[in-house]
Amino acid sequence: MTTQRERTYLMSPPEHFAVEYAINPWMDTTAPVDTELAVKQWEGLRETFVRLGHTVHVLAPEIGLPDMVYAANGAFSVDGVVYGARFKYPQRIPEAAAHRRFYVDHGGWRFVTPSETNEGEGDFAYLPSFLGGTVLAGHGFRTEIAAHAEAQEALGRPVISLRLVDPRFYHLDVALAPLDDANVVYYPGAFSEATRAVLRQLFPDAVLADEEDALAFGLNLVSDGRNVVLNSEATALAAKLRAAGYVPVPVELTELKKGGGSVKCCVAELRP
Ligand code: ARG
Repeated sequence: MTTQRERTYLMSPPEHFAVEYAINPWMDTTAPVDTELAVKQWEGLRETFVRLGHTVHVLAPEIGLPDMVYAANGAFSVDGVVYGARFKYPQRIPEAAAHRRFYVDHGGWRFVTPSETNEGEGDFAYLPSFLGGTVLAGHGFRTEIAAHAEAQEALGRPVISLRLVDPRFYHLDVALAPLDDANVVYYPGAFSEATRAVLRQLFPDAVLADEEDALAFGLNLVSDGRNVVLNSEATALAAKLRAAGYVPVPVELTELKKGGGSVKCCVAELRP
């Protein structure tokens, strides 16, 4: 089901991006990072969304928060309610306040401050037409399962817990992505055996990615229901998506991969 819609996104430029600490297996503090190139590539991503007809809000980057470019992690919103983030690692904790300020300053949002550890859209995804509106939620590395229950109470939507088991795929959004309002693409190997059974039951028509697609950060994509913006290295996944009726839009994001993220990590969708 293609349900193309105009979207509103929040992104934060990687002006202060660096790999100063290592909190996931992709981060190597000895590998050089070209911050200027990171900004250029990020700008290309932002322009891609605008060209596709979407609105992009920009969150001012802050000195000392090198991972702030991964804006997906700052909150999770559904139908005007924002469930705030509470980061696992101390290095990223202050990012949550910057995101909170954005929603408070822009008005129209009900902001729910979390008590439980959760990393926003890194571990929460929303499918508006699946069972009338369903949240998919990852746990195992960052977001605590208690946050899934807290999100359900905050948002009034069913939350389905999915267990991640491979440290390379430490957030849900590097292992699974919504393609439209009711269907997903995912890499089964990132999930526990029982969760794989759950995903098969829920999404018999899902597009399945393989390890190579996942390692190329192919699953870390953003779809508007038709156009699927994804890492240009994920060429095999792009072909699978095309065969499934979507339009892959490849973008180059080599620098941000060094922090352990790609397209989706850079974007929080705003759902007023
Ligand atoms: N270096 C960041 C971290 O480990 C990367 C976050 C990637 N974001 C995402 N939504 N997967 O927290």
